[in-house]
Amino acid sequence: MTCRAVAVGVGHYLPERVVPNAVFESRIDTSDEWIRARSGIERRHFAAEGETTSQMAIAAARAALADAGLEPKDIDAVIVATSTPDLTFPSAATMVQAGLGLKTGFAFDVQAVCAGFVYALSTANAFITSGQANRVLVIGAETFSRIMDWEDRTTSVLFGDGAGALIMERQEATGGSEDRGILSVDLHSDGEFRDLLYVDGGVSATQSTGVLRMQGREVFRHAVEKLAETAHLALQKAGLGADDVDWIVPHQANLRIISRTAQKMGVGMDRVVVTVQDHGNTSAASIPLALSVGVARGQIKPGDLLVTEAIGGGLAWGAVVLRW
Ligand code: UT7
Repeated sequence: MTCRAVAVGVGHYLPERVVPNAVFESRIDTSDEWIRARSGIERRHFAAEGETTSQMAIAAARAALADAGLEPKDIDAVIVATSTPDLTFPSAATMVQAGLGLKTGFAFDVQAVCAGFVYALSTANAFITSGQANRVLVIGAETFSRIMDWEDRTTSVLFGDGAGALIMERQEATGGSEDRGILSVDLHSDGEFRDLLYVDGGVSATQSTGVLRMQGREVFRHAVEKLAETAHLALQKAGLGADDVDWIVPHQANLRIISRTAQKMGVGMDRVVVTVQDHGNTSAASIPLALSVGVARGQIKPGDLLVTEAIGGGLAWGAVVLRW
């Protein structure tokens, strides 16, 4: 008998403050029209002063625990995907562990920028299928508003803050593609492209936090090509094809990337969960946020076949195929 990592709970948290595109018009040379047309973004949430990544992660985790009908003590590992932890160390995950009052198990962060949640999910899958953990709390949480250059119109209008969480549980399975849970994983990175999207500060190099720098057009080009390819490879590994997909749950960076990737995959936009208009790009938080919103909207239902795919700084990219 084999086993799978099955999603048994999902939840999210968005900070209270909603910032519409119009707010940027008074500060930089941009317009609501440009932002909507080029990115699909209409508004985003920004964390309140003093509100941290781990606080948002804890709120999302509590929502996922409530959804699963579980208590913190039922969790034996916490993985947080983030590039914007509260402090350089310890990990945001240990702060979540303490915040939930967990005294057992282990917790650590995964840093793969916008691909972080896909990497964290595949890490949870490895722990669960190898028997090292039974229930893993997997969170994507970011405060990208803290690493923006507010003078840079090419980046500052694109990002937002938030957190989403999944609880993955070890369950017996047949090993076939009809199983619930994670069916396949496909991960890649290529450090040759590290200068396309990076933060220009850090502990070792500058002893400062730095701000995000991006060559947007170049990242866009890589994104469409690499996302469609990784999604195809992940489906192939699961013995499935595009026709089997109920929902693509993509990283929410740009509506044009999302729709072109879906088009390349041969999947209609009526089978894509889109939240970018409301959240902007929340980096590692975007996929769990979209999963949680997709379930709340009644789009994603038990038994649906999902493909998640993401790309970000590194470049790092990948896809996970799972049955909800
Ligand atoms: O999550 C990690 C992965 N990140 C991404 O996936 C982001 C990928 N890139 C993108 O989403 C898009 O490239 C952007 C939304 C960043 C930019 O859209 P684009 O269609 O690629 O525009 P562009 O960079 O080619 O710029 C077109 C024009 C430029 O003006 P010129 O040189 O043609 O005169 C920019 O200066 O738009 C200008 N522009 C703006 N205009 C008004 C750039 N940003 C703005 C702005 N408002 N905020």
